[in-house]
Amino acid sequence: MRFKGKKVLVTGGAGFVGSVLTDTLIQEGAKVTVLDDLFTGRRENLRSLRRIRFIQGSVTDLKLVNRLVKQSDLVFNLAVRNIIVSTKSPQLDFQVNTGGMFNVLIAAKNYGIERIVYTSSVSIYGNARHLPIDENDGLSILNPYAASKLSSENYCSAFYESYGVPVTIVRYSNVYGLNQSPLNPYCGVVSKFFDQIMKERDPLIHGSGEQTRDFTYVTDAVEATLLASLVPKALGEVFNVGTGKETSVNELVMKIIQITGSRVRPRYIDRRDIDNVQRRVLNIEKSRRILRWVPAKTLEAGLTETYAWLGSAGKG
Ligand SMILES: NC(=O)c1ccc[n+]([C@@H]2O[C@H](COP(=O)([O-])OP(=O)(O)OC[C@H]3O[C@@H](n4cnc5c(N)ncnc54)[C@H](O)[C@@H]3O)[C@@H](O)[C@H]2O)c1
Repeated sequence: MRFKGKKVLVTGGAGFVGSVLTDTLIQEGAKVTVLDDLFTGRRENLRSLRRIRFIQGSVTDLKLVNRLVKQSDLVFNLAVRNIIVSTKSPQLDFQVNTGGMFNVLIAAKNYGIERIVYTSSVSIYGNARHLPIDENDGLSILNPYAASKLSSENYCSAFYESYGVPVTIVRYSNVYGLNQSPLNPYCGVVSKFFDQIMKERDPLIHGSGEQTRDFTYVTDAVEATLLASLVPKALGEVFNVGTGKETSVNELVMKIIQITGSRVRPRYIDRRDIDNVQRRVLNIEKSRRILRWVPAKTLEAGLTETYAWLGSAGKG
């Protein structure tokens, strides 16, 4: 019961990571308000729906954000227009992804708060020069989504340094698992592969499949996020959230085929413009040292749990 009695605002709480975070906060005794405009989120994602206050609205509405932040001890800002939407509409990306974070910071400056946690993304590293990537490595901004995530980080740092607004940033790497619905057209690659393979369709791989990522199970990402709000030394800091293990898309698809016992074979199609990062794996030493966090799930265990969830929920 680490959050007993705490008043917590989760923006984007009806989405994939936000819903798992919200359900966990409820189990940990928090009183949670979710602010979500249901762009990709769904109320049904929330097992704890009856035990939370759900507000359908946007982080771009400063008056609403002011009111909700004023009533909160902690804020987790997860609301986002994802990379696909953001590439199609950089204006919307700027308004929601950067504007939303800005509004939360303005409200926190006005009313005070114990901690804000911002969920940023490893997309800001672009094509890294060194692997595994650590938090101090160079950044390269390859798309509008990365630009909006980084500008949100920059506003967090500026408000922390100038006004003492207490923020912590976590940078997620390819989160997958429970509650990542294949019905969401923008869902991640793990969810897409499961969907295709469970329908006995050949999984489609963009490019050679040799591109690598660091796949993080959702409950691990959520635990790192919760610790980021609790650990005093995390104040004003930035943390990588990954596994430190590099997996190619080809390896990933073969693992999923093995877990599902399917006979399908991957099919290769054109590379997408948003897949312009060849290799990615994170150094998570700082998170281990300061947050005292290490991921609990191996990729095999996480994929097996995802398969069980998809099957039990009839989502496949
Ligand atoms: N899933 C990943 O692999 C990953 C990787 C890196 C970073 N992240 C970050 O984690 C956070 C959560 O991502 P996710 O994968 O759960 O995405 P998601 O799309 O499932 O969730 C985002 C939620 O934000 C809501 N939302 C969108 N616009 C909004 C607005 N204007 N006002 C209020 N709510 C709004 C959506 O309806 C949705 O419920 C995001 O900040 C994202 O950038 C995720």
